[in-house]
Amino acid sequence: MDELHTAVSPCAATASEGPRRVVVGVSGSIAAYKAPFVVRLLRQAGHEVKVVATESALRFIGAPALAAVSGQAVSTGVFDDPAAVEHVAVAERAELVLVAPASADLLARVRAGRADDLLTATILTSQAPVVLAPAMHTQMWLNPATQDNVAVLRERGLTVIEPDSGRLTGKDSGVGRLPEPEQIVSEALAVLDRVPGTKDGARAGEYGGVLTGRHVVVSAGGTREPIDPVRYLGNRSSGRQGCALAVAAVEQGARVTLVQAHVASELLEALPPSVTVVSAGTAHDMLHAVREAARDADAVIMAAAVADFRPVTVAATKIKKQASAGAGLDGEPAMSIELTANPDILTGLVTNPPRVGQIVVGFAAETGDDDGDVFFHGAAKARRKGAHLLAVNAVGEDLGFGDVPNAVVVLDAQGSEVARGQGSKMEVARLLIDLTAGLLHGS
Ligand code: CTP
Repeated sequence: MDELHTAVSPCAATASEGPRRVVVGVSGSIAAYKAPFVVRLLRQAGHEVKVVATESALRFIGAPALAAVSGQAVSTGVFDDPAAVEHVAVAERAELVLVAPASADLLARVRAGRADDLLTATILTSQAPVVLAPAMHTQMWLNPATQDNVAVLRERGLTVIEPDSGRLTGKDSGVGRLPEPEQIVSEALAVLDRVPGTKDGARAGEYGGVLTGRHVVVSAGGTREPIDPVRYLGNRSSGRQGCALAVAAVEQGARVTLVQAHVASELLEALPPSVTVVSAGTAHDMLHAVREAARDADAVIMAAAVADFRPVTVAATKIKKQASAGAGLDGEPAMSIELTANPDILTGLVTNPPRVGQIVVGFAAETGDDDGDVFFHGAAKARRKGAHLLAVNAVGEDLGFGDVPNAVVVLDAQGSEVARGQGSKMEVARLLIDLTAGLLHGS
């Protein structure tokens, strides 16, 4: 098996719009020990953090630790400082309320509109977006009461992050673990990205994107298949379309993972800070990275140009011209490289999805030939690949798009036209994200 070379960029390295005021709520769960890491990541990203803990949270983690890491006193009760009407003051200043961990009890109280401690009173009062990161035992999470609470909270526009699966506090394991702090902060910053900064810290009102709470994986760029330590087989893909898709998904509230192959650093640096970037150099690296990222994804969009073939053998040392066998053109030596097919990542996502029910979107750059036009080849590929959507890139062909930066015909798995669009890569990206969201919402 090929060795996997991936690197995850530190999420939230910079604040997109300068420092923002974040309230981090901590409720009673053993996972409260991870809260300081969440606070630290937010502060490293340049944000101001005020911690509001419940009484039971402080049985699991000490207030001094939370105060030290946040740089502010930790508040707990509505009556700690009644003269200051603290729940109103804290709520009005907040630009985001992030609760990590959110216990089953906290979810129930927020759903019921309770205000029996400073955290729930703050959530009830605040106009800021609310992100909840649940952590609890599997049975509590799967209990219809909790699931019903989560569904209602999401309907109301709160973001409830999916808990991880794995080892729980006791001997057993299952779904219900608090996600890693990096992931929580990445999702929280995706929400903040969509909230314009305001002078008084109040929400500007527009954060309910159609992909709120969803995870979208996008691949971008072009893989390179090594021949020897200095040479590779590559392609001209810049990764611009994939980056545009990542931005369009963030605009709609998604948590986004971009699996990139050789995309220029300027393009990656221009991405919203909430985007998690995973690097994959070869088709095999990309196969593993995409499938790993897609395990909890709602949609996977394969915009990368994946090499169809790779050399059968990769020379350990630089191949010398003189060692090449046979006669080539103009009396020069010839050499040949035997190639073997790479796995088709897109087809694999369709036939063996990492997560049941996820939407799979592919691209196809077709030129048309004697056998048929762009649409003919695109429709055949759509049926062959079976993706929910296939964006056939028809730039320069005779489909009436004219001389535009990019143009696509979007086909379904039967090869029937679903939509067409033209314009900048960003406009094409927004069209595809809209169509993907439509499929996720069943319309
Ligand atoms: N793709 C993939 N894995 C590969 C090759 C392609 O996942 N090994 C994906 C691309 O990311 C794209 C789609 O499949 O979303 C179509 O890629 P394209 O190169 O147009 O199709 P191929 O299957 O390579 O067909 P051909 O080159 O014969 O046109």
